[in-house]
Amino acid sequence: MSSKHEHGFGVDIGGSGIKGAPVDLEKGRLADDRVRIPTPQPSTPESVAETVAEILDEFGWTGPFGCTFPAVVQHGVTRTAANVDPSWIDCDAAGVLQRVTGRQALLVNDADAAGVAEAEFGAAGSADGVVLLATLGTGIGTALVVNGRLVPNTEFGHLEIDGFDAESRAADSARERDDLGWEEWGERLTRYFTHVENLLWPDLIVVGGGVSKKFDKWSPHVRTRTRMVPATLLNEAGIVGAALLARR
Ligand code: BGC
Repeated sequence: MSSKHEHGFGVDIGGSGIKGAPVDLEKGRLADDRVRIPTPQPSTPESVAETVAEILDEFGWTGPFGCTFPAVVQHGVTRTAANVDPSWIDCDAAGVLQRVTGRQALLVNDADAAGVAEAEFGAAGSADGVVLLATLGTGIGTALVVNGRLVPNTEFGHLEIDGFDAESRAADSARERDDLGWEEWGERLTRYFTHVENLLWPDLIVVGGGVSKKFDKWSPHVRTRTRMVPATLLNEAGIVGAALLARR
């Protein structure tokens, strides 16, 4: 653990697990091994907040913390709930987290947190202009970072393409569900990213999510005019980004 640098704390709330760790804010890395606890079912705000408190207690962290959430978050209020309990819709989630944990909480969309971390410390670091981060997992999360500033809650995973909610065809879960080979999935990703780049004309596309580790296998089958690179912070990006935003 590097004690010379300022530390923050990040928590990543997902549909199946809740993970947290202290973060070295200068290096943009976890400062200790992360703790993971399965997401309670049903994943109501109250029970999730109790799990978050357990993780903070585990590290004896009493300061402010940042927390990701896999849905739209406007000023601490969760507006959607694509892969979590519907009781999060229009919930003052930051308020619940603060009350239950007794610490100051900053809540942010999961892809937005990852985008901030990649822009500051990872794959998007050197890029000027418009950077689109897309996380391919259960759904498709997106973050738009313009000259280092985040435009929050872009939700481009829910564009309607060919009559489908885009993530239901092109997310990694769709690849698994439909048992697609890399080439077949690459076709779907080409359709998805071509649509997105025609709307946004980004300068760089960063792809995150677990499957970004296999970038070399599927990316040759994706044809985009925009340069595409894998995320570099991988499964730490959400935790790092949330901690960074909580400090800001
Ligand atoms: C949600 C996004 C989220 C993404 C990744 C989508 O279904 O609408 O808010 O960022 O999944 O978790």
